[in-house]
Amino acid sequence: MAGKAGASGKVSIRRPWNADAVWGWIDERLGLQALAYPVPAHANSVLYTLGGITFFGILVLLGTGIYLTQFYHADPPEARQSVEYIISTARLGDFVRNLHFWMANLVTITLLLHALRVFATGAYRAPRELNWVAGVGLLGVTLGLVFTGTVLKWDQEGWEALQHNEEIGELLGGAGIWFTSDFTTSTPILERLFIAHVAILPVLLLALVAVHFLLVKYHGVSSLPGHDEQRQAGKTDTAQAMQAEGQVPFTNHLLHILGWGLLLTAVGSLLALVVSAPLGEVIDPSEEKTKPLWMFLPLYPFEDWLGIKSLLWLPIAAFIGLLAVPFIDRFGSSSVRRRWILIAAAVVVIAVLVALAVYAQASTPAEHVAEAGGG
Ligand code: HEM
Repeated sequence: MAGKAGASGKVSIRRPWNADAVWGWIDERLGLQALAYPVPAHANSVLYTLGGITFFGILVLLGTGIYLTQFYHADPPEARQSVEYIISTARLGDFVRNLHFWMANLVTITLLLHALRVFATGAYRAPRELNWVAGVGLLGVTLGLVFTGTVLKWDQEGWEALQHNEEIGELLGGAGIWFTSDFTTSTPILERLFIAHVAILPVLLLALVAVHFLLVKYHGVSSLPGHDEQRQAGKTDTAQAMQAEGQVPFTNHLLHILGWGLLLTAVGSLLALVVSAPLGEVIDPSEEKTKPLWMFLPLYPFEDWLGIKSLLWLPIAAFIGLLAVPFIDRFGSSSVRRRWILIAAAVVVIAVLVALAVYAQASTPAEHVAEAGGG
């Protein structure tokens, strides 16, 4: 290309603005090339991509959540009407609300599958125990987001969920006061749960995700089950198999996450177009007649059998059990075969949870909370 002589007499060459030049400019400033570090090829299998897919889903939830917050009014007399406004009047409001609901369900599923993969492959073992602990925290925060989200729609189901929230808060005595209306008379509890849903829990979630990702980067993704031990034992065929597995740039792994994440969002969008997010009956404080969402259903029968206390102590016991997993696994190997008893125990626990959920779904709603019937 011909150059032009400038005022200084120097000849300036005009470069064409092609994609490489633009990429070079950005990379020089942001150092994005550093993201192309090698990761094991198995990181690209869908089982090892579930954590990334979950994160993509969380980003969609943040985006749709920010949109819904523009219209939602957390004052109790206005709350339900504002949800109806979102459905009937706000631009794209119905679709965005449905998408938010379906993505919350799908993300809970990918999150549970991710935790199951980590469990099945023994990836929580040393030195990754604390990343498992961060993961258990993420599970708790995610369930907290689903729970508070249920209350916000301020229908019968949301109201009953709030009554349980208050009862459990009272069971905790002084430590649970935040979860009850007694905490302050200046702000309705619905508004405080709204703040928890849109600020406190998302900030906690993102902080935990940051720790989780830093630890994944620090330790690298775990080897396939059994590989490390066999390599240490000098079984060269396995070492060769690992070498043959090869490596891929992390940027390529990111593209895999993007592809699966878009697919998940497409499924969520399809569901959003076909099935509306629920908005139940207007609140009737004299009756208890709804059931919780599927992730809380296994707990539901215990309320009949053991009373409301079980809704506090069973989840606490379950979370302590989950936190303990990396510290009680003494199998000395991540091999699925060597850990078969642990895997079998997990299969039994999952079967019991599913059976409880099915039983709960089939049962008739019963009066549980003290307020129900009391007005
Ligand atoms: C918001 C929720 C979560 C997100 C976004 C997330 C994301 C991720 C990502 C991207 C990875 C890299 C490997 C992979 O994708 O499989 C990972 C690894 C890991 N996650 Fe999670 N995770 C979440 C929740 C959990 C939960 C609930 C647990 C366990 C209870 C957990 C435990 C772990 C462990 C121990 C690793 C290291 C495993 C390895 O190196 O193979 N995570 N997570």
